[in-house]
Parts: sequence; C-alpha cells; structure tokens
Amino acid sequence: MLEWQQNPADTALLQKTWTDDFEVLFSLGSKMYITAFEGAHGAACKSLFPWVERYEKAGRNYAEQSEFRIQALRLVQTIEKALDKVDNIEKLERYLYALGHRHVHYLPVWLDPEYWDVFKDAVRTGLNDRLNSLAKLSAEERIRAIEVIWADIIEYIFEHVKEGFYDGLKGVNHFKN
Ligand code: HEM
Repeated sequence: MLEWQQNPADTALLQKTWTDDFEVLFSLGSKMYITAFEGAHGAACKSLFPWVERYEKAGRNYAEQSEFRIQALRLVQTIEKALDKVDNIEKLERYLYALGHRHVHYLPVWLDPEYWDVFKDAVRTGLNDRLNSLAKLSAEERIRAIEVIWADIIEYIFEHVKEGFYDGLKGVNHFKN
C-alpha cells in the first residue's frame, strides 16, 4: 500500500495548485468525466452511468444535465475531502475505503478491473491540464506537482477506493475486526 509522503515544500506546492473555487472545481470534474466518456473506452465507461444513454437516446447532451453535474462535483469533492483528512491517515483511509465499499451498489460485479485505470487516467489528464495552465508555477514546480505530488495523491485515492470495492464484493471490511 502506498504511503502518502508529505514535506513542507510539497504541502505548499499542493496548496498552490489546488483551489476551492466552485466553478474551477466543477470544470475540472467535468473535464475528467468527459475525458473518460469520450476516450478510447468511452462507450463502456458511459454504460456504467445509465443516465448517459438515456439522454443520448433522447438526443440530449449528457454533459448539460444535472446527473452529470452532480457526478462531476462528487469526484472533485472527494479529492477535496481527501486533502482535508491528510493529517489523519487512518481517517482518510477509512473514508476512501468506505466509498469503495459503497461502489458495490453502483458497479457491476463483472466490472473489468481495467476501468479503474481508465478513470484514474482521466482524472490525471484533467488535473494535468489544469497544472499545465497555471501561470504561477515555475518549470520545476510544475514537474514536481504533476509527476510526483498529484500523481501520488491520485494513485493513493484510487488504490484505497478500489480496495474497498473489491473487499466489498467479498463481504470483507478490514476496518471491522
Ligand atoms: C472504475 C472507477 C469508478 C467508476 C466506474 C465509478 C462509478 C460510479 C457510479 C456508477 C456511481 C453512482 C452514480 C449514481 O448513482 O448517480 C458512483 C458514485 C460515486 N463515486 Fe464513483 N466510480 C469509480 C471510482 C470512483 C473514485 C476513485 C472516486 C473518488 C475519487 C469516486 C467517487 C464517487 C462518489 C463520491 C460517488 C457518490 C456516491 C457515494 O458517495 O457513495 N468514484 N461512482
């Protein structure tokens, strides 16, 4: 299991690259889902969210609907909550693991494990676009933020949510002895 290493310089850089601006977060979350839905595995990704097909069949743009907006916000809010809990690693792991457990109700048991990577790559792409567009970063800061800090955070989040999901499928909860 990955450890989320922090040092003061990285913490400062993390704060410099994150935002609590609602519009920015919303647009970041939207970009992440659109990357997944319109990418090479788009049709399969969309099929996991039944409302996408419903809107497409009705000739409507799914990205303009409330379900999409809610989902886009859920993703970035989870990242935000993870950043809030970074001082308490056990609390953070419980939170992400429980979220993964709940995905047993949202995802089919036959979900190809590859989709965790497809969504993870979409999240990274969305974040990298943002990090590449931030004028206030030096070249070194940008590289550190993209290749180390945010790469680790996303890896960490997905690893714990995914573990919760697969344990949930087996009826295992490793936080309850
Ligand atoms: C293979 C990867 C994933 C897939 C296919 C997936 C899909 C879904 C689906 C279908 C729902 C239910 C939506 C609804 O009923 O409207 C959902 C809910 C949710 N997902 Fe995911 N998800 C994945 C990974 C993640 C990850 C890694 C996070 C966090 C960063 C996340 C955060 C959430 C949240 C916050 C909800 C709202 C429900 C709750 O809190 O229990 N998901 N997801």
